[in-house]
Amino acid sequence: MRLGRITGILVAVAAAGAAAFAVLAWHPAIAPVAAPPPASPDVIRAGETLAALGYCASCHTAEGGRPYAGGRPIKTSFGTIYATNITPDARTGLGGWSLDAFTRAMRQGIDREGRHLYPAFPYTHYTGLTDGDVAALYAFVMSRMPVEARTPENDLPFPFSVRALMAGWNLLFFREGRFTADPNRDAIWNRGAYLAEALSHCGACHSPRNALGAEVTARAYSGGEADDWWSPALDAGSTAAPPWTEASLTRYLAGWDPEHGGAGGPMAPVVAAHGRVPRAEIAALARYVAGLAPPGQAGRAPVDRPVRVEDASLARGATIYAGACAVCHDSGGWAAGGVPYTAPSLGHRTTITGPDPRNLIHVLREGIAPASHARGPYMPAYGEMLSADQVTDLAAYLRARFSPDGPWPDLRETVHRLMPDAPVGRAGPSTTASAKEPPR
Ligand code: HEC
Ligand code: HEC
Ligand code: HEC
Repeated sequence: MRLGRITGILVAVAAAGAAAFAVLAWHPAIAPVAAPPPASPDVIRAGETLAALGYCASCHTAEGGRPYAGGRPIKTSFGTIYATNITPDARTGLGGWSLDAFTRAMRQGIDREGRHLYPAFPYTHYTGLTDGDVAALYAFVMSRMPVEARTPENDLPFPFSVRALMAGWNLLFFREGRFTADPNRDAIWNRGAYLAEALSHCGACHSPRNALGAEVTARAYSGGEADDWWSPALDAGSTAAPPWTEASLTRYLAGWDPEHGGAGGPMAPVVAAHGRVPRAEIAALARYVAGLAPPGQAGRAPVDRPVRVEDASLARGATIYAGACAVCHDSGGWAAGGVPYTAPSLGHRTTITGPDPRNLIHVLREGIAPASHARGPYMPAYGEMLSADQVTDLAAYLRARFSPDGPWPDLRETVHRLMPDAPVGRAGPSTTASAKEPPR
């Protein structure tokens, strides 16, 4: 994004913000209240399921920290925002928050004291929640064990550090309002639409964002990003081969699909949270998402085609694939009696067929491992083993073999950016000087 353009837009936002400021930026504090009486176990249980479907814990829990006690850094292109402590601790959490204060935060992005919250907190989606669901979420968070944990200061440069500026942002990009059902669709589709749009905020990652971080609703679900991962398109632009169906989406969102495999990166906590959600809710999400791509779309078949070995880079990539990857990935897949949790071939992965190589580089660098003591796919991490040049050769080979589309532009730059600490030059055990070194 050009600096001139950002400055231009900033000036526009500042102007809109200044005009709106007097009326919009000021919100009264909502007086603190004594702890609410405990809600009924049924309401708390409903709130727990909703919290799983809204992934509250995945943002509001720091790595290795107590659940919901906050402190997790959310990196945005404007700086780092820390998710807050939403346990009912009186000094550092939501202790003293009334249902009204909680509702205003969820629906309007205004905290109890009247300050604007940043849209890194997806109130832009939660605004669509029903009153009953907001009340159940409130009952659930207020029934957590209070944890005293002060949220670190955000690391945002001026002017983004000025919360009141969000009044201008909201004026430009935020529409408060409940989800409205589509009377022409069935109840399951509408349930899925409510979950995806309001609670599960799928578009927060799967839709592109503009220069000021607002989702571009006109291109909803055409692909976005999260934590420097690419979030694949779920609309007609999907490159999934074979195309997603309601059945395969249900399996994927519930854990693992033999045709497309499992979720990695920022999608992994989404699928993990579904472990605590009734299957009917996941099936509803799947029906809605399957409908994002127009029915009858021709669809893609997985590709596995011969690669020109005259190209030196592709030839090196082929050697690495044969030596390091084929043992698992050419096994024919789990359904064909191969290695558990492997997909039939890498041509079934948007990681290879999509327009962005970042997910492949992340997966190669970090590997795939199930949570400790859990069953699930395992793949070694190659970040310490392969140099950035080797990963570039390998990625170019996988793309040429398993995707009908052309090479990724900027592949080499992206690999070097995401693997700054990769071993340099020729990899191989330096102690065994006589051992035949692997090709570059
Ligand atoms: C994508 C990450 C993310 C998710 C998911 C998320 N939050 Fe948050 N939440 C944040 C961040 C970041 C803040 C702090 C924003 C700020 O400081 O302006 C926040 C703030 C809040 C606040 C205001 C608290 C305060 O101290 O001011 C409440 C209440 C809240 N979240 C509740 C929830 C609930 C309930 C859910 C699940 C339904 C949820 N959040 C899911 C990131 C998230
Ligand atoms: C020990 C077996 C094993 C080896 C060796 C292995 N993988 Fe994997 N790989 C897996 C498993 C298991 C998965 C997860 C499959 C699933 O989700 O169903 C996977 C997933 C992947 C994915 C998809 C990730 C995603 O999120 O879409 C890619 C791409 C991939 N591997 C590439 C490679 C490459 C390239 C190599 C060689 C450098 C390699 N793998 C070596 C087992 C292996
Ligand atoms: C925090 C960001 C985030 C959220 C929220 C999120 N996704 Fe994802 N999603 C991703 C990323 C990143 C990937 C790529 C994962 C990979 O490569 O393994 C992905 C992959 C997927 C895929 C596989 C697509 C393909 O063709 O390979 C589907 C389907 C999907 N997400 C559906 C959903 C749905 C439905 C929701 C809401 C219930 C959702 N996602 C919420 C980030 C997110």
